[in-house]
Amino acid sequence: MVSRSATLALNDAINARRAAGEDIIHLGFGEAGLPVLPEAAAALAEGVGENSYTPIAGTVRARESVAGYLSHGGLPTDADQILLAPGSKPLLYAALAALTGDVVVAAPSWVTYAAQIRLTGKRAIPVPIPAAAGGVPDPDLLEPALAAARTDSADPRILILTLPDNPTGTVPSAELIRRTCELADRHDLTIISDEIYRDLAYDPTAVHTPATLAPDRTIVTGGLSKTMSLGGWRVGYLRTPPGPAGQRIADRIAGIGSELWSCLAGPMQAAAAHIYAAPPAVTEHIAASRRLHAAVARATHAVFTKAGVACREPQAAFYLYPDLEALRPALVACGIETGVALADHLLDEHGIGVLAGEHFGDAPESLRFRVATSLLYGRTTGQRWTALRSDDPASLPWISGALDRLADALETLGTHR
Ligand SMILES: Cc1ncc(COP(=O)(O)O)c(C=O)c1O
Repeated sequence: MVSRSATLALNDAINARRAAGEDIIHLGFGEAGLPVLPEAAAALAEGVGENSYTPIAGTVRARESVAGYLSHGGLPTDADQILLAPGSKPLLYAALAALTGDVVVAAPSWVTYAAQIRLTGKRAIPVPIPAAAGGVPDPDLLEPALAAARTDSADPRILILTLPDNPTGTVPSAELIRRTCELADRHDLTIISDEIYRDLAYDPTAVHTPATLAPDRTIVTGGLSKTMSLGGWRVGYLRTPPGPAGQRIADRIAGIGSELWSCLAGPMQAAAAHIYAAPPAVTEHIAASRRLHAAVARATHAVFTKAGVACREPQAAFYLYPDLEALRPALVACGIETGVALADHLLDEHGIGVLAGEHFGDAPESLRFRVATSLLYGRTTGQRWTALRSDDPASLPWISGALDRLADALETLGTHR
């Protein structure tokens, strides 16, 4: 059994509070928070007549478009290596179900991996992330963790990476990826590289995919949910390794897809084919959203650092993972001893919604939580366009007002020291 995803549950709870009239600053949900690009909407409208079931993996046109996008991004890809589905989440699940063995995950890592690992009857082997960045297990800790897992009769065969990372908003360096690939080779681990944020690194050249270093053992997933802020359209892709071994994995995943989702909706495939062909309006939209994510995540990071809170500097997307350990004495004085109690306190006393680190695999007593900054862009479509077009979005009144409230809350939390 798994319970409802913590991120979706918090989003529902915050929306219910807002509907009841509470003024909540929503930092709890990883929705990219931007309006639909009109050109993408037009491509969807044009595809609306496509009402037939398509091949399970997707139409040739849509798969060729995704393959072209990856190839232009430095990862040569053939259309046969691409499977499309309603979001990358079901593809991640299908990949886990299609592969044998237990799964190494970074700790902390995205909430869904642990739940899907449980659903597929596998065991999760969490390995702490290095100080430099999240999304990968610390290479120095990986081998001892594998040895301990095997002693405990686990059978680690799969390694999930998140590049760039949710929840830390960081991008692991080329060197970290190289060492991780070497270890995967040595221990014969299949890598699942979740690259849903690959286009949102503030420095696009900083993302290094293991698919180029360990091509025969790396599966890549991604989609339009974050890059184009189209989470509700549910467009995801999975890239299998080249050659016959990759084809066998693709066949197994397609078999699972055939019984779960049949195919990605036809109109969505038409829209995906258009978007992945990267016309100028799409490229500009992504570049503008990258700038906005960077500006607001950095401004939020500055609020935490000013309050004396440790937090990795954001390098991608719209996440921060602050650690309030420095405020522990003050927090304990208010009866707050766990991450969940801290998140509850922030919501109940300060109207600020964040997700406790425990949901990402942290120990309950850790005082870390994930902050998603993308819902600060505005409550209306107009505000969101204004934020996207602004040269200084963090100074817009609805964004700076929210950051001031966050600063006040942190100051109040720290005053019992
Ligand atoms: C790391 C990561 N992977 C995958 C997803 C889900 O993507 P999709 O909307 O394609 O299912 C998310 C969404 O929050 C995510 O953070």
